[in-house]
Amino acid sequence: MATGSGSGGTPARELFGSKWGFVLAAVGSAVGLGNMWRFSYVAAEGGGAAFVILYVIMVLLLGIPLMLSELVVGRKTHLSPIGALRELGGRGWALLGGLFVLVGFLILSYYSVIAGWTMRFALESAMTGFPGDPGQHFGEIAAGPAAMGWHLAFMVLTIGIVMVGVQKGIERAAMVLMPTLFVIVIGLAFWAATLEGAGAGYAYYLTPDLSELMNPNVIRQAASQAFFSLSLGMGAMLTFASYLARDEDLNEQAVTISFADFAVAFTAGLVVFPVIFALGLQDSVGESTVGALFIALPGAFEAMGGPGRVVGVLFFVALAVGAITSAISLLEVVTSSIIDEFGIARKNAAIMMGILIAIFGLASAHNTDVLGLVDQIAGELLLAVGALSMAIFVGWRMKDPGAEMLRGAGPRFTGAVPAVLFLVKWLLPPVIAVVVWFQIWATRDAITGFFGAA
Ligand code: TRP
Repeated sequence: MATGSGSGGTPARELFGSKWGFVLAAVGSAVGLGNMWRFSYVAAEGGGAAFVILYVIMVLLLGIPLMLSELVVGRKTHLSPIGALRELGGRGWALLGGLFVLVGFLILSYYSVIAGWTMRFALESAMTGFPGDPGQHFGEIAAGPAAMGWHLAFMVLTIGIVMVGVQKGIERAAMVLMPTLFVIVIGLAFWAATLEGAGAGYAYYLTPDLSELMNPNVIRQAASQAFFSLSLGMGAMLTFASYLARDEDLNEQAVTISFADFAVAFTAGLVVFPVIFALGLQDSVGESTVGALFIALPGAFEAMGGPGRVVGVLFFVALAVGAITSAISLLEVVTSSIIDEFGIARKNAAIMMGILIAIFGLASAHNTDVLGLVDQIAGELLLAVGALSMAIFVGWRMKDPGAEMLRGAGPRFTGAVPAVLFLVKWLLPPVIAVVVWFQIWATRDAITGFFGAA
């Protein structure tokens, strides 16, 4: 087993067994419900292709530099977020690590509820087919005792993997699950191309409505989608990088992870849009909420008869698979911090924190309005705050982040490091601050809406 010596005389830290183990685990974290479910509906809201263009810009300008920032802090310290930020920034910055743990806790609590829906859809449709009235069906299963049960089942799976450890749990799961997901998603995209009426879906997805390019709301959504989809702003990538050997090229890995994440999101769009348009269901996605895809897609699969059932099951299996590898990373942030801060054994830490998260998540499983509210607060606002703080930390507080970026860097990337550092220092803080500003208002609206509706 590969181990490394932790800093400050802590016992040897388990490391990823191979470079690809790390890359796949990080891609597993990035690729999840955010790519296949959130990306499609935010893109639909944001004018299709215009959103996709903005999204690519956000990934290149904000995502990759931010990812590199997290990787640098994690690998340099070989510590989980709280300890890493304390070591490099002092006591005050340790609070940011605390925020990361809180955000991981909150995001996983509702992420697991949605993941529970996907598991249920996969299993149920395999056994009995898709429901005749998907809107009503979703209304019945989205919240309540059944949703709680599936949420708890999903949490048990997640805890089971994290408990086992980095190599035998996280790395092994990613090595099996990620290739499975890639094969399914690519297969589905080829199949979707054969649908009659697929062209209208592609047209919507790939022809930009240029007026949306300057829409501040769409820009905010694109930035927030980039953070969420790349698992940035809460120390997930930081934590994974803390299990990384010293000599890997972090630049190359940041690019690989970001590209793979985008590729899966884009390919998922090549499945979702043709299916929706072939069945004339575009309106149901346009007015999308959390549940849109869970209503429109099953409706489409159902309408296609036998083949629709096979394809639909595969689609939801891929979603569930992506959700598990992402949930692992969320729980790992919380678990590793507990291990490092309190010296608790991994197994106990994973079980204890997993149970607390599962209990808190019951509120989201009980009421989808709670789910939406926690998503807005943690998945949008606090993630943006975390991203902003991280950019400020690496750009202004950390000593010589460039040295760590260059360690192990191949010739292709050494020249890019100064440019990336410049972006982290000067572009990211003001741009992300604007995103935070918009998110504060969006959160205020969500809170008043929630209590108004309650
Ligand atoms: N990126 C994952 C997705 O797209 C979700 C996720 C996992 C996440 N870890 C994260 C989001 C950390 C934000 C922060 O589904």
